[in-house]
Amino acid sequence: MTSVDMRTPEALAEAERWTAHNYHPLPVVVTEAEGAWVTDVDGRRYLDMLAGYSALNFGHRHPGLIAAAHAQLDRVTLTSRAFVHDQFGEFCQSLAQLCGKDLVLPMNTGAEAVETAIKVSRAWGYRVKGVETDRAEIIVASDNFHGRTTTIVSFSTDPDARNDFGPYTPGFVVVPYGDLTALTDAITPNTVAVLLEPIQGEAGVLVPPAGYFAGVRAACDEHNVLLVADEIQSGLGRTGRTFAIEHEGVVPDMYVLGKALGGGIVPVSAVAADRAVLGVLKPGEHGSTFGGNPLACAVGIEVVRLLATGEFQRRSAELGERLHEGLNALVGKGVVTVRGRGLWAGVDIDPALMTGRQACERLAERGVLAKDTHGSTIRLAPPLVVTAEELDHAVAQLAAILAG
Ligand SMILES: Cc1ncc(COP(=O)(O)O)c(C=O)c1O
Repeated sequence: MTSVDMRTPEALAEAERWTAHNYHPLPVVVTEAEGAWVTDVDGRRYLDMLAGYSALNFGHRHPGLIAAAHAQLDRVTLTSRAFVHDQFGEFCQSLAQLCGKDLVLPMNTGAEAVETAIKVSRAWGYRVKGVETDRAEIIVASDNFHGRTTTIVSFSTDPDARNDFGPYTPGFVVVPYGDLTALTDAITPNTVAVLLEPIQGEAGVLVPPAGYFAGVRAACDEHNVLLVADEIQSGLGRTGRTFAIEHEGVVPDMYVLGKALGGGIVPVSAVAADRAVLGVLKPGEHGSTFGGNPLACAVGIEVVRLLATGEFQRRSAELGERLHEGLNALVGKGVVTVRGRGLWAGVDIDPALMTGRQACERLAERGVLAKDTHGSTIRLAPPLVVTAEELDHAVAQLAAILAG
């Protein structure tokens, strides 16, 4: 093994040399992090305005979460689901109660939770709704992002996510996001579920028209179809509420959760639904070696405890207003549009000025980390522990790069 000089260019070259090129990271090599800040190998500090795509809602190394993880590391970390461990019941109960649902099924990554939701919806369709075997249909939206498995990319409309990964899994019907008529028209007697993001993150933080989800809920009720909300990125405080769909006054049949559920420490995902839905599964039909492991559950219990205080939702709502005010003041000064809710924003930059990637590179040079998506859009999703002053700082840096 060669020893690597850990200064940024050398560390970047080493990482590039040994990895598949399925990501194109910014030229920053992080070595430490705390709260809303990360430090690179050269000792430079950056304000993290991405927060692991919402996996770090509580900030880097939140003391309560780290303490829960440490305490669990000293006791037991993995049992498999062949045995029960003492963190499992409390985690499932507390998460079910947070969601207002009867049951929880824990997995690890977001994509696994989405796969779980798809399997449960299909099984419910055959066993409860009475759909003929192998005829189940699930309605999804254009520009969706639900993960990277072969089934999930089968219903992606993003060529980068999908091309050359076929043959694709059948059973999905794509309709335009936010178009209630198109969705209602797509419902057939074989429709078992509608799977939607309450706000589409990867697509550029797209907020659907007011009343859309209320309409979707009504259509699902009328046709005995499950409404499945993928809250993996939008949920757990990000938008100023526990779940983004709450803003629409709608309760889905199934929540799909991930990212922040693991407290930025371990991958933890889950689906939550009532017994009439999630109760369709029988032993042996679904599972995961690591799903619901003791370390994941110990961290997850603390995540739910933090959310139960309401503090993070409140911060996101209040500070979100400040963030959006600051960003909206840049409209016409290099910013074309700002979308989002709470501490979550999609910012379309004038493409004549720079691409989203260039904007993120320039922000990084000024000590602010953000992520581009699709051309000239950048996404801002700071940890919910960020302060008002830090937000003002980030907006000021954006203003500065746009002013040239
Ligand atoms: C809405 C949504 N669903 C699912 C996923 C997939 O999660 P994971 O990357 O943990 O598989 C993501 C990840 O960005 C997401 O934003």
